[in-house]
Amino acid sequence: MFRNYIGRFYYLLHPRLTVIVGSVCPNGRVNLMPASWNTPVSEEPPAVAVAIDSSSYTRECLDYCGEATLSILSLEDSDLIYLLGTTSGRDVDKVAQYGVELVDSVDVRPPGIKRALAILETRVLSKYQVGESILYILQVLRARVREGVADRYGYTLSTVSPALHGVGRYFYGVGPRREAARRGEYRHKTTPPE
Ligand SMILES: Cc1cc2nc3c(=O)[nH]c(=O)nc-3n(C[C@H](O)[C@H](O)[C@H](O)COP(=O)(O)O)c2cc1C
Repeated sequence: MFRNYIGRFYYLLHPRLTVIVGSVCPNGRVNLMPASWNTPVSEEPPAVAVAIDSSSYTRECLDYCGEATLSILSLEDSDLIYLLGTTSGRDVDKVAQYGVELVDSVDVRPPGIKRALAILETRVLSKYQVGESILYILQVLRARVREGVADRYGYTLSTVSPALHGVGRYFYGVGPRREAARRGEYRHKTTPPE
């Protein structure tokens, strides 16, 4: 009935919402890198975890400045997201090279991306080495959204879609379809035949 999956295990955990990690680097530049391996981890303190490869320049920049912005771009910006994730701030000034417009943050040094749907301003609380990644726990100091793209329950998906990362250069949108779960009710469904 089940068979071992032939792809990489984490493909089964995608698509996932991608954030663009903005940092200030030892070379004095602002650097931007997409990270799909991110998740909220705590409400009090408000915190998210982001897994960053040890070899990336962003890892150096986070250790240098201790703060980050997380910008959430829309599906329309997939090309930019892919470019930011396939080049390194060690080699290129991504902001200048790709003409990314930035917006000042209120509480942290790294700016956010002007086109973003939302921007979280964060500071590094702690970090853990896990294999080739460093898992950064980031405290959210401020969350800002672009006018008209979200209500108190999140993005207004009838008008915008944050970019979800599939695999490689493929991205997905989120449609407005939703289902309300019935409270306290579950009708048994049969498992599909083999
Ligand atoms: C859509 C997308 C998502 C990515 N997610 C991650 C991630 O969660 N963690 C990570 O370490 N690298 C991730 N990467 C790879 C980095 O973004 C990539 O290595 C980048 O070039 C690092 O840039 P930097 O050296 O300027 O920090 C992703 C790449 C793409 C295109």
